[in-house]
Amino acid sequence: MSASIIDGKKIAADIKEELKVRVADLKKAGKAPGLVVIQVGEDPASSVYVGKKHQMCEELGIYSEVIKLPESISEDDLIGRIEELNRDERFHGILVQLPLPAHIDTDAVIESISYEKDVDGFTTQNTGRLMCGMDCTLACTPKGIIELIKSTGIDICGKDAVVIGRSNIVGKPVAMALLKESATVTMCHSKTRDLAGIASKADILVVSIGKPEAIDGSYVKEGAVVIDVGISRVDGKLKGDVEFESASEKAGYITPVPGGVGPMTIIMLMKNTIEACERFS
Ligand code: GUN
Repeated sequence: MSASIIDGKKIAADIKEELKVRVADLKKAGKAPGLVVIQVGEDPASSVYVGKKHQMCEELGIYSEVIKLPESISEDDLIGRIEELNRDERFHGILVQLPLPAHIDTDAVIESISYEKDVDGFTTQNTGRLMCGMDCTLACTPKGIIELIKSTGIDICGKDAVVIGRSNIVGKPVAMALLKESATVTMCHSKTRDLAGIASKADILVVSIGKPEAIDGSYVKEGAVVIDVGISRVDGKLKGDVEFESASEKAGYITPVPGGVGPMTIIMLMKNTIEACERFS
């Protein structure tokens, strides 16, 4: 079988148009969604990501501010700023760009964001609510993955899903989100025995391990949906965690790298901000 490509760029562009309408509707109802992004220090990669988020907000009509704070800021002062923003009605979303400088406890900073404004879905209140199957803000990458799977038209309910990778920001939440969709979920990781045997039974295979081309076609069931979350630069080229050539011969649907999961993440941040405005203001 030769897989159909799941075109994340196109799917993200279509969602962007839908979100423009939702923002316009909110504004007609007297609500203007707002996102504030906090950047601590001057890391050039973070500056690029923060700039892209601000620009995407502008394109959608979401009110956006970027607060740049010095690398030397204390944890208490940073948390103080976040507490002020928790009370600021202009903002429905607060995002603290990671990583933070080493002298700051990232977990304490994330926890200081009110869960209603936690558009990253990183607070324990949001992850705990996800675990309990309650309404919550799902982190942007897992949320994008669920949209990509649904874009194939395949019903997740009852399918065998295997997630390779157990990170807090992708593996664990995407497993919980697939469970919420009534998939039968198996989580695999670096200590899993017979990884190929387990993965090759999956109707839906999500790979997030950060090891370029570690998963080839021998791990893929005929006709499976394969979602490749990894992105690494090898000899100047971007590579996923999945070896595309052999995997796409077996899969029914597969995401490319680049152009698969990546473009979905920022648009899911916009969606989370709009949903926070709809739910909590
Ligand atoms: N830095 C890299 N990715 C992310 C993300 O998804 N959220 C935040 N807050 N910082 C990041």
